[in-house]
Amino acid sequence: MSESKAKKNSVQARRWSAVVLAAGKGTRMNSPLPKVLHPVAGRPMLSFVLDACERAEASEIRVVVGHGANLVKAAFASSRASWHPQAQQMGTADAVKSAHVESLEGDVCILNGDHPLLKAEDLQIAYQKFQQLSADVAVVTCHLPHPGDFGRVVRHHGELQAIVEAKDASADTLKIQEINTGIYFARAEILQELLPRIQNHNAKKEFYLTDLVSLCAENQYIIKGIAASPRVAFGVNTQAQLAIATQRIFRRKRKEMLAAGVLLLDPKSCFVESSVEVAAGSVLYPNVFLRGSTTVGAFTAIESNCYLVDSKIGSSVTIKANSYIEGAVVGSRVSLGPFARIRPETEIGDEAHVGNFVEMKKVKFGKGAKANHLTYLGDAEVGEETNIGCGTITCNYAVDRKKYKTIIGKRVFVGSDSQFVAPLHIGDDAVIGSGSTITKDVPERALAVARGRQVVIENYNKKKDEGT
Ligand code: UD1
Ligand code: MG
Repeated sequence: MSESKAKKNSVQARRWSAVVLAAGKGTRMNSPLPKVLHPVAGRPMLSFVLDACERAEASEIRVVVGHGANLVKAAFASSRASWHPQAQQMGTADAVKSAHVESLEGDVCILNGDHPLLKAEDLQIAYQKFQQLSADVAVVTCHLPHPGDFGRVVRHHGELQAIVEAKDASADTLKIQEINTGIYFARAEILQELLPRIQNHNAKKEFYLTDLVSLCAENQYIIKGIAASPRVAFGVNTQAQLAIATQRIFRRKRKEMLAAGVLLLDPKSCFVESSVEVAAGSVLYPNVFLRGSTTVGAFTAIESNCYLVDSKIGSSVTIKANSYIEGAVVGSRVSLGPFARIRPETEIGDEAHVGNFVEMKKVKFGKGAKANHLTYLGDAEVGEETNIGCGTITCNYAVDRKKYKTIIGKRVFVGSDSQFVAPLHIGDDAVIGSGSTITKDVPERALAVARGRQVVIENYNKKKDEGT
């Protein structure tokens, strides 16, 4: 094996543990929610950082929590990360100590939980460079024309000497455009040695992790900078930055969708969360919002102002403007809306038609069934090819405050303005006369009419010229 190949293999064999700092209060967010739980394009900020660590194959992920620790842990209950409380938020160096650094081995990546634009590749590339540089500690840096509040990277003859926080910096230091992204790689034993030596002699009286750099320089450890893009540096400290991050994540998804053959009529007004899957050949009209675990099949059109959450939509479906679909499963070749409201636990069969101002909740709506206008169906089953007339209501909520089910068979014809007072069973091929209030089961092929008989009283109203 050649020397370079052997080196490459040994490089690949090294693994790193992640220490994610997420205990800060996020004072500048001015919000009661812990900062790292603020949603970025529908997902908590911290999830982007944890995902990046996960996908970059961190051998272990330790998260330092403090402010709102229980809420943060609950939001990530299924994560393999371990949680390390920081009793008091005394600064980033104190936070790292809380992650039980003494039990870490090998290489460690320390990163902030408030960098939602971070990708797994960023960590992989930085780690590779850290190894190539044979550094003891490396700081991921970047150049910004307007470095704002970021810590400034101070170099001496090109070598890293210190990081100075903007609050502690002189006017000259503030002019430095190379900044600290807040991502570091370090050998565990160096951290174990230097962390206890960090002091809090600064404007905020906090223990700054950034002091690791000057300590390394003073102790002749190899400390290097690794250049990254401004995206990597993008940290969220304010609501304005959160809004920018959200826009950036939505934009990333739009690019992915366009590249994958999804048609976006006005890309900037399609808001699709990264967890959503839209198949090639589907069209999103302006102002569409797709969230959570939603999937959309091929050749489906979603018109303007539709909002879909955690729903599975088949292929060749048309969802007409202003529809709201939540926790539902919709088959293929279905027509929905405009103004349809489909609520959780509803399953709409292939080729069904659900028209304007139709609301469904917990409904199994059969293949080819139709409910084209102004209808409420709740706790119901509607068989194949059944036609639900305009203004039909299933009265599922009874005086005992319990819900009951309406089962309507196949090929039933329900005349307009009918009510079904559940529990009820309507047999296949039955016909319900318009305006009926159905309170008893209807057998197969029967006609049921339940309305006041029409009474006609001739000459009831006097003609105008007859006088009194
Ligand atoms: C920090 C860096 C700064 C860098 C910037 C990049 C320090 C002192 N400064 O500043 O050089 O340019 O990140 O975004 O490190 N945290 C804790 N416990 C604490 C304090 C903070 O867990 O006691 C966590 C926060 O939740 C946050 C992260 O550490 O996720 C960084 O803290 P933050 O206050 O946002 O630091 P910055 O001012 O952004
Ligand atoms: Mg920050």
